Amino acid sequence: MSAPGLNRAVNICCIGAGYVGGPTMAMIASQCPQHRVTVVDVDQGRIDAWNRGPLPIFEPGLEELVAGCRGRNLFFTTQVDAAIRAAEIIFLAVNTPTKSFGVGAGRAADLQYLESCARRIGAVAEGRKIVVEKSTVPVRTAAAVQAILAAHAGRASFEVLSNPEFLAEGSAVADLRQPDRVLIGSERTASGEAAAEVLASVYAGWVPRDRILTTNLWSSELSKLAANAFLAQRISSINAISALCEATGADVQEIAHAVGRDARIGSRFLQASVGFGGSCFQKDILNLVYLCQHFGLPEVAAYWQQVVALNDYQKQRFARRLVEALFGTAANKRIAVLGFAFKKDTNDTRETPAIAVCRDLLVERAQLAIYDPRVSAGRIEADLAPWLDLGGHIEVCKDPYAAAAQAHAVAVLTEWDEFRSLDLERVYAGMLKPAVLFDGRNVIDLAAARRLGFQLHAIGRAVPEPRLGGATR
Ligand code: UDX
Ligand code: UDX
Repeated sequence: MSAPGLNRAVNICCIGAGYVGGPTMAMIASQCPQHRVTVVDVDQGRIDAWNRGPLPIFEPGLEELVAGCRGRNLFFTTQVDAAIRAAEIIFLAVNTPTKSFGVGAGRAADLQYLESCARRIGAVAEGRKIVVEKSTVPVRTAAAVQAILAAHAGRASFEVLSNPEFLAEGSAVADLRQPDRVLIGSERTASGEAAAEVLASVYAGWVPRDRILTTNLWSSELSKLAANAFLAQRISSINAISALCEATGADVQEIAHAVGRDARIGSRFLQASVGFGGSCFQKDILNLVYLCQHFGLPEVAAYWQQVVALNDYQKQRFARRLVEALFGTAANKRIAVLGFAFKKDTNDTRETPAIAVCRDLLVERAQLAIYDPRVSAGRIEADLAPWLDLGGHIEVCKDPYAAAAQAHAVAVLTEWDEFRSLDLERVYAGMLKPAVLFDGRNVIDLAAARRLGFQLHAIGRAVPEPRLGGATR
């Protein structure tokens, strides 16, 4: 019996050594030692970091994964043209941020990097190439990539596939090792389906065949946007309920548990929070909204737009409640911010709710003392730079206790495991009184915090009455 994966060696190139390209290629190289995988990037510093460490991104298990195959069949380089020429399969994993200017600004995806990569491939490639869209893109982007490649097809022939990545940051290695599904979209032609089969055979090296789905190109592209929109919608739904809980005394965690027990709904992605962040959710929904408007579907566009609007509301609501708890003014008050990454187990801060909350507090001229176990001080300072000349101030601290010392309030904005086991007594002892604690991730033991005397606020939870007199037992 033949092995499930492709037996012959395939030369693979990936353009873009970021959060998606790096881990995905490391997994292919690790699971398929017969294939040669080269990851290229225009950013020399990033490539140096992949080669020499510390790795440019933090993901649990990634260092070991990369160390196991780097230099064997996994290579990182800035030699883009050579890698394109040598490869049979070329992944495009460059960033596709929301456009910040011109037509569709604030909603449409900016495809300039994807386009320039397609032009480069067209200019240097020879022979038969399979070009794989890994970056999340608007529906029908493959047609644009195809058109650019076709304009250069003299020395080469191309098949364009869509193969969206569904990994979540913080669990990328586990998600890649055991994906719920791998999705491959191709043209429904003999050569398109043959190319899809080559890519499917690479994944079949470790992914069960029944988890590898094939569709037409447009279904594959739209599935990624739809999946992220559905996931984000669940968070906005539970966050909408959290506001009602705070008004009524119901507890959002009890509701999430009760609602999630319905097998038709399921329990995951019902964790109320200060808001969702990350490079994908907002960008992909805005992209979906733009597509709907473009195709004359304003009602559908408005429906998905509301998922983003509710998320903005949730972030603003948090900062507003915090200022209210500080007697209506945060000016010159030290506020400890615990967690800056958009979720635990990553150093990524793209669209993190912490930026929105810190921005609103800096506008109030607060003195922020920020601690995150993985995000660098330089990153935090760069993210908050636009709001630093308004009278507020930031200090990046080495641990949560230093941040909380002499603070009026502590706000937990990322659900890092270490915050679940905070020494609350030590935090409380160092703070000014009344000591205000805002839990934006529902990770703090409220009963213990109440016993210590904290004035507590959480997301959608029935919080015990404040005890202004300090600790009582
Ligand atoms: C990106 C997109 O944001 C996402 O939509 C898509 O699903 C996957 O690719 P990510 O890997 O997180 O996600 O982006 P990022 O970490 O910014 O990495 C992109 C890399 O591409 C960067 O290192 C950048 O230097 C590189 N790049 C960009 C090139 O090598 N060439 C270019 O022309 C543009
Ligand atoms: C997401 C998708 O999950 C992934 O499939 C896709 O490939 C990329 O986008 P990612 O953004 O990396 O992944 O992380 P995810 O775990 O989805 O979290 C996104 C945001 O939602 C985070 O800010 C997280 O804290 C928040 N979240 C998640 C909640 O607030 N509540 C939840 O119940 C789950």
